[in-house]
Amino acid sequence: MSTAETLAAEVLKTGTLEGLPDGHFIDGQFSRPSHNQSMESFDPGRGEAFASFAAGTKADVDQAVESARRAFENVWRDMAPVERTRILQRASGLILENMARLAVAESLDSGKPLNEALGDVRGAARCFEYYAGACDKLQGDSFPLGPDYLGYSIHEPVGVTAHIIPWNYPISTTARGLAPALAAGCTVVAKPAEQTPFTALLLAEILTKAGLPDGVCNVVTGTGAEVGAPLTSHPDVDHITFTGSVATGQAVMSAAAREVTRVVLELGGKSPVVVLDDCDREKAMEGVMGAIFENAGQICSAGSRLVIERGIHDDFVEELVRRTRPLRLGHGLRNPDVGPVNSASHLEKIAGFVDRARSAGAEIATGGSVTTDPDTGKGWFFEPTIIDRAAPSDEVVREEIFGPVLTVQVADDADHALELANDCQYGLVAGIYSSDFSKANRLARRIDAGQIFINEYFAGGVEVPFGGNKKSGFGREKGIEGLKSYCKTKSIAARIG
Ligand code: NAI
Ligand code: MG
Repeated sequence: MSTAETLAAEVLKTGTLEGLPDGHFIDGQFSRPSHNQSMESFDPGRGEAFASFAAGTKADVDQAVESARRAFENVWRDMAPVERTRILQRASGLILENMARLAVAESLDSGKPLNEALGDVRGAARCFEYYAGACDKLQGDSFPLGPDYLGYSIHEPVGVTAHIIPWNYPISTTARGLAPALAAGCTVVAKPAEQTPFTALLLAEILTKAGLPDGVCNVVTGTGAEVGAPLTSHPDVDHITFTGSVATGQAVMSAAAREVTRVVLELGGKSPVVVLDDCDREKAMEGVMGAIFENAGQICSAGSRLVIERGIHDDFVEELVRRTRPLRLGHGLRNPDVGPVNSASHLEKIAGFVDRARSAGAEIATGGSVTTDPDTGKGWFFEPTIIDRAAPSDEVVREEIFGPVLTVQVADDADHALELANDCQYGLVAGIYSSDFSKANRLARRIDAGQIFINEYFAGGVEVPFGGNKKSGFGREKGIEGLKSYCKTKSIAARIG
């Protein structure tokens, strides 16, 4: 057994992971919340609370922002970029050294299968490695003003950055925001989701062990109303990176407008996977299943709409159903094919969508019901579900369900597939499966989404910019473009002759 599996087995026995932090992380250390109140976090695989954490308030947010401001002005903004490189590189190594504990904490808190959590932790380490290398390469330009002038630009850090993190990819989303912010010379106040508070705290502790000066990275835990709202409306926050629902994103954008704070919004999607009849069927089948059943479909970039050409529809869907039925559900720490969904209320929301579709006469090819862990009879599970021959106007096609529910839309040809793909309020990502690259590329150019995957859903990594169009938000994370969100260009022109 690997170290992670041994630890997972222990946690399954005792029901909790020992030594999880129960305070905020402010100014380089764990501290009790001002009002000394706690909340509980749940293990979705059992539907039971397993640990408590600090329930923050505005007073804690104020303290964290002050700490981030001090660290920005006094230490971090002017530190030699190569020193920042070394700290972030060490952090990447320490994340890998702590992989087992981080992954078990992530799986227990979010419900996701342990192997997926291990992948997320590796991805977080990679993210710090990638941006570590960027710190000392943030070069400006020089401007041709003639011999009597000197004109140049520099990329300055924007300052104190707030990061609002959702519960579906806690450590990944934290790393995706923090690594480029820190690389650019910004300081951080992060607020993890109240469903999954722990890995952000553990990450902040690791960063400090890697040599990050006190106050550069702060984490305040608690609810959106008590912590998220005061943080995003704080006058001394210079930038907000938000990942979550459209409604909360709109609230964050309004709060940001009052202070004219910069904002990047990543708001989910209803992404199409377009499968053309000339595709490699095996590749497409694997891609479609991973796109919707990974993390029980709770992925902003899930491929939740299969748009498939009529010629292969029947065979493809039949095979898809045949492979979906035996998928093994179970507690995340037992490494099932599909884990639980994150909360009781979220399970209810997913079930509501499917129940309404059923009442309206939807063709549910497999799944469709709430269930439990077959080993324990506990937990918040939804069966992997496929709804065939859905119409563009169906609620299950139009709305983000954020669960293991795939809808299938039948297209007459590639042009019709394009029309169906774009008939959507979201525009985050899209997948295309075809053996004809020029055909796939033509679709890729015309689908309205921030990122397109051809012949491998989720292809690419931290190197590739990611973000949405339409209601999926705006701004890009990852890649060099993600770094630029945390920089402001200053132009300097001097008369020297
Ligand atoms: P949410 O958008 O309310 O929560 C995301 C984060 O925002 C959490 O950290 C939360 O505490 C914080 N937050 C809540 N209210 C806030 C406020 N007024 N100001 C600042 N921060 C605030 O999403 P929720 O309720 O967890 O999930 C609802 C739906 O959103 C899901 O069913 C799913 O469809 C979608 N979602 C999309 C995600 C994505 O990756 N784009 C991630 C999570 C949810
Ligand atoms: Mg939890």
